[in-house]
Amino acid sequence: MKKFPEHFLWGAATSAPQSEGHGSLNGKSPSTWDKWYEMNPEKFQKNQGPEHTSNMYEMYSEDVKRMKNIHMNSFRTSIAWTRLLPDGKTVNQEAVTFYRNYFSELHANGVKPIINLFHFDMPWWLMEKGGWETRESIDAFSFYATTCFELFGDLVDQWTTFNEPMVHVECGYLYGYHYPAVHDLKKAVQVGFHTLMAHTMAVKAFKDGKYQGQIGIILNVSPCYPKSRSEEDLRAAELADLLNTKSFLDPTVLGTIPPKLVECLAENELLPKVAEQDLEMIRMNLVDFIGMNYYQPRRVQAPAEVNQPAISPADFYDHYDWPDKKINPYRGWEIYPEALYDVAMMIKNDYNNIAWYVSENGMGVADEERFLDQTGMIQDDYRIEFMEDHLNQLHKGIEAGSNCFGYHTWTFVDCWSWLNGYKNRYGFYRLDLENDERSLKKSGIWFKELIDRNGLI
Ligand code: BG6
Repeated sequence: MKKFPEHFLWGAATSAPQSEGHGSLNGKSPSTWDKWYEMNPEKFQKNQGPEHTSNMYEMYSEDVKRMKNIHMNSFRTSIAWTRLLPDGKTVNQEAVTFYRNYFSELHANGVKPIINLFHFDMPWWLMEKGGWETRESIDAFSFYATTCFELFGDLVDQWTTFNEPMVHVECGYLYGYHYPAVHDLKKAVQVGFHTLMAHTMAVKAFKDGKYQGQIGIILNVSPCYPKSRSEEDLRAAELADLLNTKSFLDPTVLGTIPPKLVECLAENELLPKVAEQDLEMIRMNLVDFIGMNYYQPRRVQAPAEVNQPAISPADFYDHYDWPDKKINPYRGWEIYPEALYDVAMMIKNDYNNIAWYVSENGMGVADEERFLDQTGMIQDDYRIEFMEDHLNQLHKGIEAGSNCFGYHTWTFVDCWSWLNGYKNRYGFYRLDLENDERSLKKSGIWFKELIDRNGLI
């Protein structure tokens, strides 16, 4: 048996906007998702919007029992900024009651909450002022973070500031999947920098306030593999890593922005506006731990043609379509578990072996009703195989000394996914969209047995 460390965290992750529902109720103000759906519902898969999602606002108590039933010992969700501080300043007491009850229920059932502050859900009132494009967003976020530490600090001992900050940068400012869906590399860099500073100032507020516990950040990591060992392909891989991974990992863990990244931004007239104390603040306010969301690797090659100065990431690296890849056809993502070992080694060797956990890993599959058996249970053997393969690699990394303290899957109950609506399902529990009913899938039973053994057979 391949045993995992004692007290290993086993659980799943979701986010407030993808699971709570009550998108416009109970005092919540709109986020960019609520407004975008109002303006362009046709952009969303089958017109499925953010209003209802899986209704954990009403069902959290039963859902926590479901977590307990499959022996999960931890769970990550986020607080909706727009629910807690609808106008950015005034606390919504109903939200305080909701989150306090929710987190207390988790504790009462032996499920440790890891609480994230921002999961792509920019408040509309702030978006109207420019969102992360404006420096004002840094103070606004810091105020929100401090409010959370004050109100829920007794119930949370592991906080994270952002989920996948690179995703709102690239989806909102390069690829059109998040509001404001503009294509502007210069703005993307500025948005990324303001996000980094918002994170930094929230960490500072946490440390200055001497709140209990630890603070971290959750990053999406796609280890980068070049097509060949040619100088050009290696350079493309280096740039892809600098822009997508090291841009947040280095400042948050090591306190530095990689000089090669700065050089590349300068050469392309992309340097962001930076205030006097910013770099010192970054240096002083390091995270205590890191969450790594891993789904797929990044394969790259040197671009055939480039713009100088660059106008998109394609001017730094091109996607390489590896002919031998194994693919999840529903999500279109490559399945490559070996990369999780590489992530573990990267953290060990390049990031002071900081405490980290796999904060998301999972397989989204469409039309899962195909796999219902006579008892009404989805036989998701593909998901079990996916997780097993990844856990084998993670175990190898831990054996080699990587300081990993947990593994969370995406997700617990099938949840709403941004423009993809409910197309791809990821949960241990199937969600019936007709009536919000949840039913356990085979992978949920497998997960429970895995947790009981704290090991892979
Ligand atoms: C992660 C996000 O990147 O992937 C989640 O943190 C998201 O919000 C998950 O839902 C799965 O991706 P998708 O796009 O298939 O929902």
